[in-house]
Amino acid sequence: MAAAGDSVAELLFYVNGRRVIEKNADPETLLLPYLRKKLRFTGTKYGCGGGGCGACTVMISRYNPISKRIRHYPANACLVPICSLYGAAVTTVEGIGSTTTRIHPIQERIAKCHGTQCGFCTPGMVMSIYALLRNNPEPSLDQLTDALGGNLCRCTGYRPIIDACKTFCKTTDCCQSKENGVCCLDQEINGLPGFDEDSKANSKLFSEEEFLPLDPTQELIFPPELMIIAEKQPQRTRLFGGERMTWISPVTLKELLEAKVKYPQAPVVMGNTSVGPEVKFKDVFHPVIISPDRIEELCVIKQTCDGLTLGAGLSLAQVKDVLADVIQNLPEEKTQTYQALLKQLRTLAGAQIRNMASLGGHIMSRHLDSDLNPLLAVGNCTLSLLSKEGKRQIPLSEQFLRKCSHADLKPEEILISVNIPYSRKWEFVTAFRQAQRQQNALAIVNSGMRVYFGEGDGIISELSISYGGIGLTTICAKNSCQKLVGRPWDEEMLYAACRLVLDEVSLPGSAPGGKVEFKRTLIISFLFKFYLEVSQMLKRMDPVHYPSLADKYESALEDLHSRHHWSILKYQSADPRQLSQDPVGHPIMHLSGIKHATGEAIYCDDMPAVDQELFLTFVTSSRAHAKIMCIDLSEALSLPGVVDIVTAEHLHGVNTFCLFNEPEKLLATDKVCCVGQLVCAVIADSEVQAKRAAKRVKIVYKDLEPLILTIEEAIQHNSFFEPERKLEYGNVDEAFKAVDQILEGEIHMGGQEHFYMETQSMLVVPKGEDQEMDVYVSTQFPKYTQDIVASVLKIPANKVMCYVRRVGGAFGGKAVKTGIIAAITAFAANKLGRAVRCILERGEDMLIIGGRHPYLGKYKVGFMNDGRILALDMMHYSNGGASLDESLLVIEMGLLKMDNAYKFPNLCCRARACRTNLPSNTALRGFGFPQAGLITEYCITEVAAKCGLSPEKVRMINMYKEVDQTPYKQEIDAKNLMQCWRECMAMSSYSLRKVAVEKFNAENYWKKKGLAMVPLKYPVGLCSLAAGQAAALVHIYLDGSVLVTHGGIEMGQGVHTKMIQVASRELKMPMSNVHLRGTSTETVPNANVSGGSVVADLNGLAVKDACQTLLKRLEPIISKNPQGTWKDWAQTAFDESISLSATGYFRGYESDMDWEKGKGHPFEYFVYGAACSEVELDCLTGDHKNIRTDIVMDVGFSINPALDIGQIEGAFIQGVGLYTLEELNYSPCGVLYTRGPNQYKIPAICDIPTELHISLLPPSQKSNTLYSSKGLGESGLFLGCSVFFAIHDALSAVRQERGLSGPLKLSSPLTPEKIRMACEDKFTKMIPRDEPGSYVPWNILV
Ligand SMILES: Cc1cc2nc3c(=O)[nH]c(=O)nc-3n(C[C@H](O)[C@H](O)[C@H](O)COP(=O)(O)OP(=O)(O)OC[C@H]3O[C@@H](n4cnc5c(N)ncnc54)[C@H](O)[C@@H]3O)c2cc1C
Ligand code: FES
Ligand code: FES
Repeated sequence: MAAAGDSVAELLFYVNGRRVIEKNADPETLLLPYLRKKLRFTGTKYGCGGGGCGACTVMISRYNPISKRIRHYPANACLVPICSLYGAAVTTVEGIGSTTTRIHPIQERIAKCHGTQCGFCTPGMVMSIYALLRNNPEPSLDQLTDALGGNLCRCTGYRPIIDACKTFCKTTDCCQSKENGVCCLDQEINGLPGFDEDSKANSKLFSEEEFLPLDPTQELIFPPELMIIAEKQPQRTRLFGGERMTWISPVTLKELLEAKVKYPQAPVVMGNTSVGPEVKFKDVFHPVIISPDRIEELCVIKQTCDGLTLGAGLSLAQVKDVLADVIQNLPEEKTQTYQALLKQLRTLAGAQIRNMASLGGHIMSRHLDSDLNPLLAVGNCTLSLLSKEGKRQIPLSEQFLRKCSHADLKPEEILISVNIPYSRKWEFVTAFRQAQRQQNALAIVNSGMRVYFGEGDGIISELSISYGGIGLTTICAKNSCQKLVGRPWDEEMLYAACRLVLDEVSLPGSAPGGKVEFKRTLIISFLFKFYLEVSQMLKRMDPVHYPSLADKYESALEDLHSRHHWSILKYQSADPRQLSQDPVGHPIMHLSGIKHATGEAIYCDDMPAVDQELFLTFVTSSRAHAKIMCIDLSEALSLPGVVDIVTAEHLHGVNTFCLFNEPEKLLATDKVCCVGQLVCAVIADSEVQAKRAAKRVKIVYKDLEPLILTIEEAIQHNSFFEPERKLEYGNVDEAFKAVDQILEGEIHMGGQEHFYMETQSMLVVPKGEDQEMDVYVSTQFPKYTQDIVASVLKIPANKVMCYVRRVGGAFGGKAVKTGIIAAITAFAANKLGRAVRCILERGEDMLIIGGRHPYLGKYKVGFMNDGRILALDMMHYSNGGASLDESLLVIEMGLLKMDNAYKFPNLCCRARACRTNLPSNTALRGFGFPQAGLITEYCITEVAAKCGLSPEKVRMINMYKEVDQTPYKQEIDAKNLMQCWRECMAMSSYSLRKVAVEKFNAENYWKKKGLAMVPLKYPVGLCSLAAGQAAALVHIYLDGSVLVTHGGIEMGQGVHTKMIQVASRELKMPMSNVHLRGTSTETVPNANVSGGSVVADLNGLAVKDACQTLLKRLEPIISKNPQGTWKDWAQTAFDESISLSATGYFRGYESDMDWEKGKGHPFEYFVYGAACSEVELDCLTGDHKNIRTDIVMDVGFSINPALDIGQIEGAFIQGVGLYTLEELNYSPCGVLYTRGPNQYKIPAICDIPTELHISLLPPSQKSNTLYSSKGLGESGLFLGCSVFFAIHDALSAVRQERGLSGPLKLSSPLTPEKIRMACEDKFTKMIPRDEPGSYVPWNILV
């Protein structure tokens, strides 16, 4: 749609040193799909499409002909329009190294340090580190972790990635901290005895000696052609015209102004980090975009007597560097605003966004949660504007922020620069922000505050306070500030200010974003912090006239404990008697580690397009409970590229599939039962066309009653899935009569999103012959996919081949719903006779798939005054959502595991799964145990509080100690549980640190520390023999090489690596001789779902069986020629007609559970462990920092300590997310708000404990399992609740100090909101509260 008279340019840029010319560049095309689909660089991954996850990180390099410098920076390819890349060089993970050429040291180290599991985040991680090292080959660890702030990983828990980073730092052995002049090498951890390194145990999982050196001279050079082009002046405006959009890139200011006159409504796109997400997620469309390119005037950096002038085109990262520089060189009193801006810039988004986003774009976007605008507004900044009419300046005022026309830019004006005045003597400026997560999270509330005392007399001459996150844009508390001018800076003024500001910056109960009371509290908590900070500075400047703050209160001003990351691992060395080539017991790198890091590992959507391939997208219900009155497909069908729309009518007769007791519907028929239910599927030539058409499908609904969303509503309406489950032991009623005290309570626990980095993906290819169908799918359960596809197509299962090479994380979320989606995709493929691909976007995935069940636990507990629990009566309710899925199994597992590590002599626990109008919840790592275990631990904490004992003491008293019986009467030997507990106590120096924490708490009023230790008993097993059967197929080829297949799915846990270790041990051949390609229903039929921590164990026994069969057959040949090679033996076997292929089988562990009798042997073994965590809280903001965690685990004989530790810590961090961070928000109508990383926060690198110590118990018992190993996929997740209880401990200290009576009622996750609101104080008392029922809240607790 290029404008008449303009000539359309050719787009020229480079990718990985390769020249790319686009003659018809479409301005709507973004770099990520262009790289992946057009250039086939599939190493760069899609994780969210909105800049929030970092999976798509690439490096962009640009040459500046004036400075003659090349700027390299990381960028999110998902937000970069290709038209913005003219003259730039893009480097993707493929461009820095590959297994076919040379792997880059970053790729090598991240893999060899075990920093990859599923590997989906790895290319993004690699590129973030790469971009940093290109600019700074010897960075500090701080710089490295900062560079990774915009990259999420759901698997590893980040520790191994930090380990890899450390190898690039100047000094790798040290924490690099010189806080107070001491570093970790000089001082004991926390001033207390450090981790006791046992010399017999191993602590290194990799060997640095073998790493390739980093040689900056080896990097790809900036393309000389692009330098020449950049130097060649003058250039002319470039124009790119697409089907619907025109892109204008002026290269001079004059051209920019002309373009703005011509298209006054066109946005001026700089970083596209604001416009891009609006186009993508809010359906905003711009027919014309103006994107200035290298206009010098927009990049000025000028210091004058009025302050610092910064060009609107500077990136936020450049602004950060400039400010850091200016602060170094100017007196402190002049740089108050700059320091505050710098503070905000450190936590604003991640490095990629900071490098892409421009200062002008940031200011002009006027986002409600902008971190800089509140400061720029209080800092008296002015904006320099330019248009064809001339220059003018406007203040960055409240009116400007509110877009009042008299104070705003005119449509044809451009923001050229911003002037930020120097601060004056007796002027103080401060910034505050509180977000759900410390890094890469938009602020819940932020603020900029400035006060000026004129002559230094302590009387307010000027005061400005602005807040973000409260209204539609930044809000200034102007009237309040005016009223406070002339008042002395004292407590009276503070409280008057709090009242005034609360009045002026008011927030209704139903305000979007919720957290209303928290926001109100933050508004005045920040004010208090400002008051203290200024008081402290006044005191520093004039100690005679200004009083000191009491020591106890100074803690309000200190930043949360920030030490550098430090980890120590301890595991038992492999048996020295083992053969030297036997890899079992060694920390072998993930088989695909290097390929993950080079981007060569192929995931489902990386597969090339099949000829004539189509794309399928779903239309989902927008109502939670409604009758479908009509569906109008006509408009959607009429759009170009649309091939078909599949509805329930097409699926007549095959629209249901029964995995458990209740049939699941594939597509909605006459009614919908949740928002996100699949209604129909649009199939088009391309993803873009399918998505456009899906938006045109019109569905008319009629709402139905009742609408049941919460557990409480389900209880009210008696809406449950049947049956109720119950577990009883002893006699509770009798026991209650004999106890000293009885306590009743409850705790609610929120759900959790899987947030696997690779969204649901599949490609279905009809073979065109005999109705055969190949399904390439990212699933944990290929057999189920095969079955459901066969059922929908009415063909036998033997016609459907389901293949999984690897899965980019699953955690339980890629089983049931994946099968349903695959079945519909297969139906479409079959109907149309063409291959169909379906890849869910992050938001769709989160909406449709469901996650961990929210729980409500109610308990009545009877105990003695010494802490012994004698009677426990408990009820679990889970929110199962609209269909059964695995909800019944989840509550059953929750029940069977609810005792955790405790012997409750008299117990009655019942569980019900609630049927609600939410998307069906499903399996998620831990399967009911993380919820049930938390309820039990919470109950114990309450008992401890009642008894006046520490929770650890009560835990210890009630723990299983020796051979005993579980509530379902299975025998348990708890020796290792006790050992884990004791070792964790010792390793963490629990007693000493408890004293230190108490001392800290006594000395600090506004900061509190907490310490907690929880034990773990995780039963492993599947409650059924059949569910535990596994099979494998092993071939030996005539060259002696071996191919292994088995029924397990590689989803990051390293099962394939372990299987190769097994084959290598059994066949006594090096691992390099064994290969594994993937999992297919053709090679291993009827495989069980991969999950439940048993995949390696069960499949390993099958692989072992197959290998032993082969070895037995070959033994006579080998013994005849012991010096021969595998090639010789294979050839001889062939010549003697001995089969070189064998299946292996494991029939499962004998297990059963009789729910009628409440008795059984459902589990094969127990994993034991303990974790001790310490946190520090900021009582004014609700922020917390994980300071240290010590974990001891009994893993039996570890087959691969690197993978096992990886599972433990990865699960632990996922647990930290579950219990303290991850919050799903639903509207009162049942719409999930949290549909991407920008709203839903999983742990980032900033959330891991500063110190992490993991120790594996030396193996003690031989067992039936694979080499006496234990499965560890799930258990570690529960240990994340040690952080929850450490926060609980800190909050108890807060409340005790403040004399707050009554029990501390908390729920999970313990987010900053809940922490802050539990720290009741004069500020929480001051805020207005809304009567429940007097407003419609933004969100509800489901
Ligand atoms: C994942 C993610 C995380 C984020 N996290 C944070 C955060 O933690 N804190 C925070 O404060 N912000 C955050 N942001 C917002 C981010 O700061 C803004 O999106 C960014 O600063 C906008 O800059 P841009 O150059 O990309 O703007 P663009 O998208 O290019 O443009 C935005 C708007 O500015 C206008 N504009 C740009 N330049 C000019 C000019 N010179 N003259 C006139 N108009 C102009 C355009 O017309 C357009 O309307 C985040 C964004 C993302 C995507
Ligand atoms: S895909 Fe680009 S940041 Fe997530
Ligand atoms: S390895 Fe990071 S997301 Fe899986």
